[in-house]
Amino acid sequence: MESEAPANAIAPIVDVLGIGFGPANLSLGVMLEEAAPDRQLSRLFLEAKPEHVWHPDMLIEDSLLQVTVIKDLITVENPQSRFTFLCYLKEKGRLYDFLNLRDLFPTRYEFNDYLCWAAAQLKEHVRYGRRALRVVPADASGAPIPEGDASRPASLVRVEAEDLATGKQEVYLGRNLVLAAGGIPTAPAGIELGSRAFHSHGYLRKLEAAFPDTEAPHRFLVVGSGQSAAEIFQDLIKRFPQADVTATIRRFAYKPVDESDFTNRVFFPEWVDRYNSMPADKRRGFLKELRDVNYAVIDHALIRAIYQTLYRQKVEGNVRARLEPFLELDRMFEREDGTIEAQYTDVMSGAARTFEADGAVVCTGYDWPKEHPLLDAFAPYFERDDLGGYQVARDYRIESQPTLAPNVYLQGYCEDTHGISETVLSLLPVRAGWIQRSILAAKQSPTAPPVVAAGG
Ligand SMILES: Cc1cc2nc3c(=O)[nH]c(=O)nc-3n(C[C@H](O)[C@H](O)[C@H](O)COP(=O)(O)OP(=O)(O)OC[C@H]3O[C@@H](n4cnc5c(N)ncnc54)[C@H](O)[C@@H]3O)c2cc1C
Ligand SMILES: NC(=O)c1ccc[n+]([C@@H]2O[C@H](COP(=O)([O-])OP(=O)(O)OC[C@H]3O[C@@H](n4cnc5c(N)ncnc54)[C@H](OP(=O)(O)O)[C@@H]3O)[C@@H](O)[C@H]2O)c1
Repeated sequence: MESEAPANAIAPIVDVLGIGFGPANLSLGVMLEEAAPDRQLSRLFLEAKPEHVWHPDMLIEDSLLQVTVIKDLITVENPQSRFTFLCYLKEKGRLYDFLNLRDLFPTRYEFNDYLCWAAAQLKEHVRYGRRALRVVPADASGAPIPEGDASRPASLVRVEAEDLATGKQEVYLGRNLVLAAGGIPTAPAGIELGSRAFHSHGYLRKLEAAFPDTEAPHRFLVVGSGQSAAEIFQDLIKRFPQADVTATIRRFAYKPVDESDFTNRVFFPEWVDRYNSMPADKRRGFLKELRDVNYAVIDHALIRAIYQTLYRQKVEGNVRARLEPFLELDRMFEREDGTIEAQYTDVMSGAARTFEADGAVVCTGYDWPKEHPLLDAFAPYFERDDLGGYQVARDYRIESQPTLAPNVYLQGYCEDTHGISETVLSLLPVRAGWIQRSILAAKQSPTAPPVVAAGG
C-alpha cells in the first residue's frame, strides 16, 4: 500500500521501487498491474530515458527480434492478459495482416512499438527522465543510514535520483527494490571511445552526428563478431554506398547462433531450476558450453546475407567491404588529425597489425555485474557466496543480514546462478512472477524468509 510521502521524499513510499523501465521491469509492471485485489502492491519505476524506447540506437532497419514474439511481456505466464502482443496487434488493427506473414519474429521496430504501447498504459507508475544516482539503506523516516553501519536496522530503500530535465535531485523511498538497469556497454582496456570511435550501444545517434554525409567515401572499422557487429557491418555497407568497411573479428569466421531444438530447451523455465541447483563449478562449465546460444553469435540468415553482399561486390569488381579474421583489438584512439588508429594482435601469428579509419564501431558487448555499482552502499548488509559475489536466492533476492528489512531483487545480473536466459527476453514474465510472489510472501510474513512456490 502507498503511504504519505515523508517530508524529504518526492513521492509516497511504495512496496516496489524499480530502477530502469526496460523490458524486464516493464514485464514486472504488467504483472503487478493485473494482480488480483488481494495481491496488490504499490509501485514506482524510475527510468533515465525521457520516454519509452528499447535500445534506440540499435533500431536498425530490418533488424529482427531474436525470440519468438509469443515470449512477449506476459503471454507465457498469463495468455489472457490485456498486455499480450496479440492484444497489441488487435488494438492496432493489424492482427490478420500479421498472422498472414506466418512469421513469429517481427522487426525490432515493431516489438519496440509494442513495448511503448504497453508502457503507455502503465505511465502513472513510471517517472521518466529520472536517473538513479545512489541507492542507500534508510531508516523508517527515510533518512540514510551512515555508510558501513550494517548493525543499524534499515526499514527502507532510498533512491537518490536526478531529474534530467531540471537537474534537480529527488529522493524516492521503497519497501523493496528491483534493480533492472540493463547491461553496461563494455570495451577492452586501451580503447578510447569518443565521437568517431564509439560503442555499438550508441550506434545510430553517434553515426548520424559524426558522419552525416552518406555519399562520402568514409573508411569504417567494425570490431566484434556478435549480432551487434554483424548488423552494423551490413548497415554501414548499405547506408554508405561509397564507403570502405572492414570488419575485424577475433575468430576465424562469423559463427551462427545455436538455436537447435534440443539446445533451445535451455530457455524453458524448468532449466532455470535445474541450473540453479547445480554445484557452482558445474554451473560455470555448463554456461560456457551454452555461450553459443547468445553471445558472439549471429543469426544464420544475416550471415548469409552478408556473404552474398560481399560476393556481389566481387562480381561487380567493386570490393569495398571485407572480414579480417584472427584480430584481437589492443588499442584504439583518435589521432590529432581526427582519424582513428586501431592496433591489433593477430592471434595466430602474434604479429602486430595497425588499421586506420575515419570511424570505428566497437561491438564488444555488455557487462551485467551482479555487484552492481548502484548497490555499493548495501554491500555490508549483503551475504556473499563461495565465489565472493552477492548471494542471490532462487527468487532473485540478494540474501542479506536480518537488519535489512527491504528485499533487493536483481533482474538480468544473475547469469552465474540462474543461467543463460538472464540477459534476454525469453523468461521475463516468469522471473517477474517469482519476484512478485516473493514480495507478497515477505509482506504477509515480514520476519520469515520468503516462501516461493515453483515458478512456471
Ligand atoms: C541491440 C540489442 C538487441 C537485443 N535484441 C534482443 C532480442 O531480440 N531478443 C532477446 O531475447 N534479447 C535481446 N537483447 C538482449 C536485451 O538485454 C534484452 O532484450 C532486454 O533489453 C533486457 O531488458 P532489461 O530491462 O533488463 O534491460 P534494458 O533493456 O537495457 O533496460 C534497462 C533500462 O534501465 C534504464 N536505466 C539504466 N540505468 C539507470 C539508472 N541509473 N536510473 C534509471 N534508469 C536507468 C535504461 O535507460 C534502460 O531503459 C538485445 C540486446 C541488444 C543490445
Ligand atoms: N536484432 C537483435 O535481436 C540483436 C541485435 C544486437 C544485439 N542483440 C543481442 O545483444 C546481446 C549482446 O550482443 P553483442 O553483439 O552486442 O555482444 P556479444 O555477443 O557479447 O559479442 C561481443 C563481441 O566482442 C568481441 N570482442 C571482445 N573483446 C574483443 C577484443 N579485444 N578484440 C576483438 N574482439 C573482441 C567478442 O569476440 P569473441 O567472439 O572472440 O569472443 C564478441 O564477438 C546478445 O544477446 C545479442 O543477441 C540482439
